[in-house]
Amino acid sequence: MTVTALIVAAGRGERLGGGVPKQYRPIGGKPVLRWAAEALIRHPGVRQVQVVIGEGQGELAAAALRGLDLPAPVTGGVERADSVQAGLRAIEADAVLVHDAARPFCPAAVIDRLIAQLEFSDGAVPVLPVSDTIARAESELGDPLDRTAVVRVQTPQAFRLDPLRRAYAAWHSGVPTDESSVARAAGLRVAAVAGDPALDKITTDADFQRAEQWLAGRLV
Ligand code: C5P
Repeated sequence: MTVTALIVAAGRGERLGGGVPKQYRPIGGKPVLRWAAEALIRHPGVRQVQVVIGEGQGELAAAALRGLDLPAPVTGGVERADSVQAGLRAIEADAVLVHDAARPFCPAAVIDRLIAQLEFSDGAVPVLPVSDTIARAESELGDPLDRTAVVRVQTPQAFRLDPLRRAYAAWHSGVPTDESSVARAAGLRVAAVAGDPALDKITTDADFQRAEQWLAGRLV
């Protein structure tokens, strides 16, 4: 089975305020996108890595990915789902790992689990249990939810390519936040494998600081 990784990096990083989008900002001296691309391309099960970037991000991406043997980036769209679909149109493979550039540290063991699971289901996603109390967001604190009944869903998300393309073509329920939502709506079977806290998404300045600290600790 040939596996291509698709890294969506077309976001504008608006939650972090102006300046360079978060996927092009450095952690430990290396852009977030480059960490993500290197983690995927060095996995022996991944044949190619296709990056999707935003309008006007060509120079940032070229600098971030300099020296890596990758095809030219594809241009994404307004929503993450638009960027994913632009990438899905550009690749050829039996299976795809769709990954957020904003998750720079991807353990090889997670990729192993995802690819192995594709033998048994249409898709597989990494999940983690929830350790905080979860409550409904209302003007006052709303009712708590049963945290043992929910999980956090990360990326990379692994799918057989053609079924995922068909699932996106059939999607009509607004803006999805990930592929598992689209795939399940189309009736695909999506398995959950163990995720990893290292895969948590970088969203805020505090996330950048935590990632720097984590990296410093890992290197000593
Ligand atoms: O904004 P969010 O953190 O959900 O974005 C997740 C990933 O999707 C990021 O890597 C971001 O660059 C990417 N994205 C994209 N195209 C968009 C919006 C987000 O590729 N239009």
